[in-house]
Amino acid sequence: MIRVINKYAFADSEYEKYTEEVRKQHKALYDKTCPGGEFTGWTTWYKDYDKEEYERIKDAARRIRKDGDVLVVCGIGGSYLGARSAVEALTDVYSDAKPEIIFAGNTLSSNYLTNILRHVKGKSVYLNIISKSGSTTETAVSSRIFEQYMVETYGQEEASKRIFCTTDKSKGPLKEMSDLKGYETFVVPDHVGGRYSVMTAVGLLPIAAAGVDIDMMMAGSRDASIEFNNENLMLNEAYKYAVARRILNAKGYDVEMFVTYEPQLIQFGEWWKQLAGESEGKDNKGIFPASAVFTTDLHSMGQYIQDGKKILFETVLNIIQPQQDIIFPYDERNLDKMNYLTGKSVDWANHMAMQGTLQAHAQQAGVPNIIVELMEFNAYGFGYMAQFFFHAISMSCLLLGVNPFDQPGVEVYKKNMFKLLGKE
Ligand code: PA5
Repeated sequence: MIRVINKYAFADSEYEKYTEEVRKQHKALYDKTCPGGEFTGWTTWYKDYDKEEYERIKDAARRIRKDGDVLVVCGIGGSYLGARSAVEALTDVYSDAKPEIIFAGNTLSSNYLTNILRHVKGKSVYLNIISKSGSTTETAVSSRIFEQYMVETYGQEEASKRIFCTTDKSKGPLKEMSDLKGYETFVVPDHVGGRYSVMTAVGLLPIAAAGVDIDMMMAGSRDASIEFNNENLMLNEAYKYAVARRILNAKGYDVEMFVTYEPQLIQFGEWWKQLAGESEGKDNKGIFPASAVFTTDLHSMGQYIQDGKKILFETVLNIIQPQQDIIFPYDERNLDKMNYLTGKSVDWANHMAMQGTLQAHAQQAGVPNIIVELMEFNAYGFGYMAQFFFHAISMSCLLLGVNPFDQPGVEVYKKNMFKLLGKE
């Protein structure tokens, strides 16, 4: 399903010296003795997940899909990015399919929230509030605005059927409010950290409501979980990618640009950036994660990558099978001089652009390129990729000597903001 190709970045022999350390860190990850070991529930989630809750998620999604024009999802960070990346990657971009999934709770922009309120007026709205703590400011601000909108619009009884809260199993303001008002709740598990939670109710409810086959996603996640539970570096593609990051970082490459050739994967790049950046950027260490979509960004960032300072390496996601393809048409008059592509597929052209870019960046400019080759980016592939990156990024952190599962730095802005907002 996945293959990591390092030949445009370094020699195979460079993996060798990491073999024993990977073995050691794999053991620490799986026996939960690594830093943050209490948050490694994602490694066995494929068999430990709550089967009864899973059926309730599917049932809630069915109700939303049957009757909803819009599902507003309030969440931020790990309580948002996974769902958004899956919905955008796996559903039609310009479709009238219902329900439309709208993400709020990830901003304090009054302009954005006002636009959503205006857009949903008169439509059949459902609401999913997602917050482990139940007290994250951005999410709490939008949740109150949309919850009040729902109660004013439908009355409390009907609103209670339309509001779903995904939060801690027993505590926190969101859990208390749900119990009081009769909102159906789903659980953010204690042992799965936010940015590792897309395969829990956090991601599954909005993703299922968007019409994505979550059984297939879970199957991909299960197969990858089994595959990557392997201490042998050379037999574990996720760990090869983790080590590739460490090899390149040790050579002075401090920035990693995650590249896809699919505009519908922009949000997947955002999800990856959070996973990599929030997991690894601590103790004054870590690779700075950036992302780009080619060929679009070759016309903006391409210049810097080719000729700018040599601070970055690229990780290119190469999807072998497109979800859909188009054959380039013939034109009698050929005014645009494009007939040389007649009969070729657009995806083939995209792959030729990838090859040309690889030559330009890796061979001509000397920018190391890691290729992550994936068969197909469907629901199964998404579940598989999530586990691939969970294993890779957590291993990359452990090899660097940082805790992959905390985010102490994020608290600093919050403290300052709370003071300015007058929070007690
Ligand atoms: O990865 C993380 O743990 C964070 O990004 C959190 O998911 C994010 O801060 C949202 O927190 P909460 O779910 O408590 O609202």
